[in-house]
Amino acid sequence: MNIKISKKDPWLFKGDMLVYCVRQVSESARLQVSRNGKKAPICSESKVQGDIDRAFATGDFTGKEGRNLLFYPRPGQACGAKRVMVVGLGQDDLNGETFRAAGGLIARATGQSSRAENIMVAIPEELDFDINEMSKCLTEGLILGNYQFNRYKNITKGDDPPNRIKTITLAAASDRKVRLGMLMGQRAAEAACQARDMANEPGNKWKPDDFARYGRKLAKDYGIKCQVLGSAELKKLKMGGLLAVNQGTIEPPKMVMLEYRTGRKVPTLMLVGKGLTFDSGGISLKPSHGMQDMKYDMCGGAAVMAVMRAVAQEKPANIDVVALVPTTDNMPGPEALKPGDIVRQYNGKTVEIISTDAEGRLILADALSYGVRHFKPAAVVDVATLTGAVIIGLGHHLTGLMSNDDGLAAQVTEAGARSAEPVWRLPLHKEYAKQIKSEVADLKNVGGREAGTITAGAFLQEFVGGTKWAHLDIAGTAWNFTEKSYIPKKGPSAVGVRLLIELIRHWGG
Ligand code: BES
Ligand code: MN
Ligand code: ZN
Repeated sequence: MNIKISKKDPWLFKGDMLVYCVRQVSESARLQVSRNGKKAPICSESKVQGDIDRAFATGDFTGKEGRNLLFYPRPGQACGAKRVMVVGLGQDDLNGETFRAAGGLIARATGQSSRAENIMVAIPEELDFDINEMSKCLTEGLILGNYQFNRYKNITKGDDPPNRIKTITLAAASDRKVRLGMLMGQRAAEAACQARDMANEPGNKWKPDDFARYGRKLAKDYGIKCQVLGSAELKKLKMGGLLAVNQGTIEPPKMVMLEYRTGRKVPTLMLVGKGLTFDSGGISLKPSHGMQDMKYDMCGGAAVMAVMRAVAQEKPANIDVVALVPTTDNMPGPEALKPGDIVRQYNGKTVEIISTDAEGRLILADALSYGVRHFKPAAVVDVATLTGAVIIGLGHHLTGLMSNDDGLAAQVTEAGARSAEPVWRLPLHKEYAKQIKSEVADLKNVGGREAGTITAGAFLQEFVGGTKWAHLDIAGTAWNFTEKSYIPKKGPSAVGVRLLIELIRHWGG
């Protein structure tokens, strides 16, 4: 999809659809302004006010958030566009999410109830809200809401799935501020769409080698560094966790590493994403019901790869960013890892395997301990679909956060709020580590049912030493994420992508 800016009068736009955003008139204003207590939303373009007034009089459109009005201007209105859409912003205090949701609604409603491909959105500059932030969030909502994954469907014209927008023009007089916001929103949203594409690919199409290919392509396109460790290197380096999980499959494992460097003396942020391309559970086989969703077990890896794309485009000046994606699938084969086996992780710690289905922590442990030693980061954030337990605790609305550092936890929480990818911190008191002590090895990979999300976090903590670290358990939010206009009801959300981009944008500032 194309997105651009115009300073021209929107009314003269010769395209498929012209969109305005309006506020609902608040209860108190309504009582003040008119005797009968009614007041239609006011549009910045007076030529559509009559249409809004008539729709309001019927009660069909009040400007409520999430509602829209679509009509076909009469020749007498001299409108350049074939259709006009008016979108409600509601009467509550405006925030970034109001505009993201509006952008999502515009994209979705356009696709569902029209065949419009070339649309213009008039930026509501008249509203008392930061134009830069408004443009950024609207752009995010538009691009994310317009996302579809149709690669494997044979589509005949005029069929479902609905139409998609091809070109969006943002109309604004203050085009400089709008452009800055648009570019920020576009980078973040396009990165998220790439993460969704990776996640949507099934287990037979997105394999460890595809992560490697994607990483190498990023390196080539944007001039960052990509290094891929294959079986031989992993063995040489003694990454016993990743190799153990890989034993049951014929797909070779990979550790994909990306480096964005400023060339200056700045702190390094290290990102780690779980890239489990399919999680059958291994010998501790999962029940078959819903197992197809385990193709999404690589959403953490997809998120950090996509973030690196945005970073490479944006080129922050005050921070180096490196990313590691340990990737394999988890299958029950003749040589598969077994419960009771003991494996040695990269940092030398031994782990007794209780369940081969607790595999994410084994591959992350190697990536964390190798990365911390090799890159000496100032801070580490890992993203992983790690535990079913986090769904029990937080549902599908918030991501679980665990951290050994209050400052970093606060930064991540802030970034989550700004990006509307909210997180909730769970405790990591040292008592939890008791649950993962083994009788026969240093650790065991399952600490029982109690506090399952936290004991998984406590396991990871054993591999970061004293480095500041935050762990995001996205098992509840990576797909089936809380319903929104710009997040698919089913399918991957790309949660983590915009959060991490926000974290990096505000690093040290
Ligand atoms: N990938 C799963 C976690 C998961 C479960 C994500 C459901 C999304 C939805 C992970 O590898 C796993 O299987 N975890 C086990 C851990 C248990 C064996 C301690 C779990 O949560 O059941
Ligand atoms: Mn598992
Ligand atoms: Zn898993």
